[in-house]
Amino acid sequence: MAEFLWVIFPYLSLTVMLLGSLYRLVFRPLTWTARSSEWLEKKWLRWGSLLFHWGMLFVVGGHVMGLLIPMSWYTAMGVRPELYHLMADSAGGVAGLVTWLGSLILLVRRLGNRRVRRNSSFGDFLALGLLFVTITLGDAETLIRNNLVGPYEYRATVGPWARELLLLHPNAQFMVHVPLLLQIHIVFAFLVFAVTPFTRLVHVWSLPVRYPWRAPMQYRRRGDSWHTTR
Ligand code: HEM
Repeated sequence: MAEFLWVIFPYLSLTVMLLGSLYRLVFRPLTWTARSSEWLEKKWLRWGSLLFHWGMLFVVGGHVMGLLIPMSWYTAMGVRPELYHLMADSAGGVAGLVTWLGSLILLVRRLGNRRVRRNSSFGDFLALGLLFVTITLGDAETLIRNNLVGPYEYRATVGPWARELLLLHPNAQFMVHVPLLLQIHIVFAFLVFAVTPFTRLVHVWSLPVRYPWRAPMQYRRRGDSWHTTR
């Protein structure tokens, strides 16, 4: 079971994400869009999208700092575990809450607004639903479990596992004793990765850094040969 969950399933998910995205790019280039629903409802989209995308920028940054940078580097820089977790839990907690609020607004809007709901596909609900569950579980781990039980040292388990996964020699044993909440969070994250090419999430490959600053829908001037919508 451990081998399946922490070796086979992650690679399956990443392969589907990469090959699926490549297929869509090559064979369905005109569907490469986040299919903005700004024209159906604008006010809540602005808030939801703004909070979600800004929050995600910091959450992604936090994941890189917490998972890809080895713990020994922090120790070498004189950052003690207590200080690391204080900073990670407070900054990560704020970013996580902002992201969660943004995704909640987007979900309620998609389900609650009749026009948006009727123009949504199964993939739209699936992508947003999976993201919402993943974010809720991550926040529950950072904000609730860590405060009730004490900070969990994921830099000694999830971190090395993730790095070895990327280096193509994963060790499932690192993940066996990780708190269940965090394990489920990570499984859901890989489900998000797997559905990316089949949903509007495919737009994450298209320079997401610009997203927080630009309008949800992109218009082209008469005569321009290229335009995008998200
Ligand atoms: C769609 C992808 C993902 C999303 C949306 C997501 C979201 C979140 C959020 C919102 C938090 C809480 C705030 C924070 O600490 O930043 C969190 C925490 C965390 N996530 Fe993720 N995450 C994703 C993927 C992953 C993956 C792939 C891993 C592991 C390889 C992972 C491991 C963690 C860990 C270790 C924490 C910190 C838990 C703690 O504070 O004890 N996440 N995530």
